Amino acid sequence: MEHILVSTFPQKVSSALVAVVPTIIDLCVFLFLPFSPDCEKRCGALDIMFVIDSSESIGYTNFTLEKNFVVNVVSRLGSIAKDPKSQTGARVGVVQYSHEGTFEAIKLDDERIDSLSSFKEAVKRLEWIAGGTWTPSALQFAYNKLIKESRREKAQVFAVVITDGRYDPRDDDKNLGALCGRDVVVNTIGIGDMFDQPEQSETLVSIACNEPQRVQKMRLFSDLVAEEFIDKMEDVLCPDPQVVCPELPCQTDDRNPGSINPLIFRPMEEGVNINFPSTIHSIAQFLNSTRESRDPNMYTQLVATLAFTAEKAKFATGNERQEWMDLFIDTFKMVHSEIVGDPESVLGLC
Ligand SMILES: *[C@@H]1O[C@H](CO)[C@@H](O)[C@H](O)[C@H]1NC(C)=O
Ligand SMILES: *[C@@H]1O[C@H](CO)[C@@H](O)[C@H](O)[C@H]1NC(C)=O
Repeated sequence: MEHILVSTFPQKVSSALVAVVPTIIDLCVFLFLPFSPDCEKRCGALDIMFVIDSSESIGYTNFTLEKNFVVNVVSRLGSIAKDPKSQTGARVGVVQYSHEGTFEAIKLDDERIDSLSSFKEAVKRLEWIAGGTWTPSALQFAYNKLIKESRREKAQVFAVVITDGRYDPRDDDKNLGALCGRDVVVNTIGIGDMFDQPEQSETLVSIACNEPQRVQKMRLFSDLVAEEFIDKMEDVLCPDPQVVCPELPCQTDDRNPGSINPLIFRPMEEGVNINFPSTIHSIAQFLNSTRESRDPNMYTQLVATLAFTAEKAKFATGNERQEWMDLFIDTFKMVHSEIVGDPESVLGLC
């Protein structure tokens, strides 16, 4: 593919950025076949371990909500790496815990789990244990038996722990920090009425390795599956996603017919570190002010915004998708008017 866009801007675009500037063809794909089901989201190498409460006190319905939460979050993280030894992609494990020594787990390196659907099936099969609550032991088990040996060398490891903050006093509270200092990012979700009791809040912070910003509190188990919360978890676990699409029919370059030539939109390539607005509102403002100022130095940032809005549009739903799409088209027009004057004629090229 030629980089038609950048050819007239050699002095403005750093060589690292050239690699990520979408071509006109890429943009056509986004504009006219924007939500192709063949496109795939990739989060980089991630090992994620969910640690969920399966004690009697939470009840069957709440246990089911926890399982739905796990499946909903994992569905947002792109495809699961087929091969547990793969250097890329997500691998996901689950441990559910109850009284002493009762753990049931889906292992990170389970070869049978090679897709989202096999993962969902495995989660469905987890049965509510309904015993006591031995949270510290469960965390120790999660590290020693599920993470230590099976984590992949290059993967970022996350743990997501769900608890109501109470645990059996016979358990060893030293193990609340079992995941800490081991290069695991621990997110703790505390559910229930525990917040009136300071010692239970302390428990949550200990699990989250004394990083209070990694503690989420909610009153109801049903809040776990709220769209808003799933969005938040998606951002936490996959902050810098890539979107990869197979080549699509709008492609005019048929020198390699039939070959899969993935398009990758990624605003933050190595060596390019642009701090750009990232909310719908701030991007709209940025576009407005750039439109007025016509500052050529903004070109690089516009290109980054172009890639960013394309990615957001791809994975948003409903109204929000439309808003990102509109921003994307506005950005597209501005980038192109910089180069060829008339944005409508560029759209005509598609
Ligand atoms: C489920 O959790 C809610 C809080 O979200 C709690 O009020 C309810 O009692 C729990 N259900 C059972 C059966 O314990
Ligand atoms: C940008 O400009 C448009 C048109 O002038 C206006 O309707 C919109 O409110 C502005 N948006 C922001 C965020 O300033």
